[in-house]
This record gives sequence, structure tokens and C-alpha cells, in this order.
Amino acid sequence: MQGKGKTINDNSMFDFFKKKIYLRDLLEDFHDIHSHLLWGVDDGSPTQKATDSLADEMASMGFSHTYLTPHIIYGCYGNHNEESLRARFAEMIPHNKVEYRLAAEYFLDEKFLEHIQKPDEVLTLADKHILVEYGLQTTRVERLDMLFEAALQGFQIIVAHPERYAFAFDGRDMHQVEKLTNKGYALQLNLPSLLGSNGTKVKRIAEEMLLDGRYTFVGSDTHSRHYTSALHEGTLSPKVADALKQLITNNKEILWK
Ligand SMILES: [Fe+2]
Repeated sequence: MQGKGKTINDNSMFDFFKKKIYLRDLLEDFHDIHSHLLWGVDDGSPTQKATDSLADEMASMGFSHTYLTPHIIYGCYGNHNEESLRARFAEMIPHNKVEYRLAAEYFLDEKFLEHIQKPDEVLTLADKHILVEYGLQTTRVERLDMLFEAALQGFQIIVAHPERYAFAFDGRDMHQVEKLTNKGYALQLNLPSLLGSNGTKVKRIAEEMLLDGRYTFVGSDTHSRHYTSALHEGTLSPKVADALKQLITNNKEILWK
């Protein structure tokens, strides 16, 4: 009898570790801070119709708000600037379930400083938070002088999806990533990274960084149906899901006031 009882306990412990949680079950009233639903301006949604259908899918998972954060990259996507992005936003048809606000995802290129020289025009999230990105192939954290200048001007830096950059793979001690966090810059996790959408290496780094408490915020980075399908089908371990809940709360409490 004793042996039989032990087997049952072992099985239930095994089941606990095997248990998976659907990501979508954590997204009730989700306040997203990163998406490419502003149509026709970058590699995200191409039309109002496509945006409507992405927002429908997001709403069905529980999203209630999303910042629209088009790329601002010098020499790319028709060189949109704050003025042209605001004009497109003014034309957009609101969604009945997902509230939109306009911000941007600024690429740290040679024109970044020109943008922040006109602080009233910069497309920020609440409290002067500014979302910035590096090129994915960046092997060393660079342009810290630009980030410092932005911080001096009162911007609060959020670095988008650090787990996707080559510098996140530079050894296991995260010293490149710490060049950012040591300065007080916040990091934003991409939900698709946790689901393996960018490969198993990115997934592993994202999970490690999340469990080590390195992120402050989380975004879907939705560009297309490929993203919303992954979010709908994706599962997480209980440990990862627990850690993610804090970021979901931070989004709402800090960036959606
Ligand atoms: Fe993005």
C-alpha cells in the first residue's frame, strides 16, 4: 500500500510541473504598451480593415487598451515623423472594445537626438516614458550617450524587447543588459518572445530575464495575425505566468494613468 501511495504522490508532483497556463487567460483587461496597429506607416497593419480585425482578436483575448507604437527609423517606411503619425492617428476609426493611444517606437539611430530636441512633439507614453529600440544584430549596448541626453531632458527610457538583441546572448551574466538597467532604464518584455515565436534561444533568455526580475513592462508588439494567433495558442509554465502578472500590473498602473 505504501508503494502505491508514493506513486500517486509522484504523479501529482509531475503533473504540477507539467501544468501549462494559457497566456490568454492572463490577459483580461490587458493594457498593452507596444503594438503596430497604426495602419500603413510601418511593417505592421497595412489598412484600417486589418487593424479592425487585429483589434477584434485582441479584444477576444481580453485586451482593453493598446498604445500604437509605430517604428520611427530614419530611412525606413517612408520616413514618417511625429506629425505624419499624428495625422494618421486622427484618421483612425476607434475600436469599440480596445482603446487606442498614440506613442512610438524610436530606433536609436543618428536622428534620434533630433527627435528629442523637440520634446513637445515626441510621441511618449504616460509620464514622458519613451519606447526605444536597437537593431536586432547589436552585439554591444551602444548609444548610451543618446539615452543619457534623453534622460537629462526628463524622458523615462523603456528599451523594447532586449531579449531579442544579440547583446542579450553575450555570456550568462547579462553585463550588457545591465549597462541599461544600472542607469535606471526600464526593459520591456515581448510576449511573443516568451512563446518561442523568435526561437528557443530568445525564449530561454526571456524566461531567465523575467524570473530574475529584470523587466518592468510587457508588450504584445502585435504586427499581424501571426502575432495574435501565437498569443491565443501560447502557454506558459506556472512560474513564468506568476512572474508575468507583475509586469501586466505595472503596464496598467504606470503607463495607463
Ligand atoms: Fe515593435
